[in-house]
Amino acid sequence: MNSSSTSSHGLAGTRRLLQRLAIGLLAITAVSIPVRTGHADSAGVVGANNFAAKDGKTLYATICQGCHMPNGKGAVGAGAYPALAGDKNLESAGYPIYLVLNGQKAMPGFGGFLDDDQVAAVVNYVRSNFGNSYTDKVSGDDVKSNRQPNAIYSTLD
Ligand code: HEC
Repeated sequence: MNSSSTSSHGLAGTRRLLQRLAIGLLAITAVSIPVRTGHADSAGVVGANNFAAKDGKTLYATICQGCHMPNGKGAVGAGAYPALAGDKNLESAGYPIYLVLNGQKAMPGFGGFLDDDQVAAVVNYVRSNFGNSYTDKVSGDDVKSNRQPNAIYSTLD
C-alpha cells in the first residue's frame, strides 16, 4: 500500500496553515512593535528569512493578499488597504521596493523577513499582474541598493 500521496497532501496543507499563522503573527508583531531599537547586535543585519518561497506569486499569496486581497483590489474594513490593481503608483519600481522593505503606516515592512531576490520577485509580480503591465523587472541587486545601511527591520524574536 502506498500512502505517500496522501501524506504529502497533508503536509502541504499543514505547511499552508503554518504559513498563514506565521503571517498573522508577523502582521500582529510588526504592527504592535513597530521598531526595535534596543538590540545593537541586530543593527544593519537582515533578520532570519522566514519565507521559503522564491516566486512572486506564492509570496504574494502568502504575505500580501491577506490585506491587498487575492485580486489586488484592496479592501476597506477595520483598515483601508489600497488596491494594487491598475495602480499607477507602481510605475516607479523604487516605490513598491521601499514599501515592501520598510512598510508605511498600517503596512508592516518585510525587509527582515525576505531576502533581496524575494523582494524583487514579489515586486515584479505586483507590477506585472492585476492589470499592471510594467515590464522593467527589478533584480535582487536593485533591492539591495534600496536597503538602508543601518535599517533595523522588524523581527519575530
Ligand atoms: C498587514 C496588511 C498589509 C500587508 C500584509 C501588506 N500590505 Fe501593502 N499596504 C498596506 C496598507 C495599509 C497600505 C497603505 C499604506 C499607507 O497608508 O501609506 C499598503 C500600501 C502598499 C503599497 C502602496 C500602494 C499605493 O498605491 O500607494 C504597495 C505597493 C504595497 N502595499 C505592496 C504590498 C506588497 C507587495 C505586500 C506583500 C509583500 C504587501 N503590500 C503587504 C497593508 C498591507
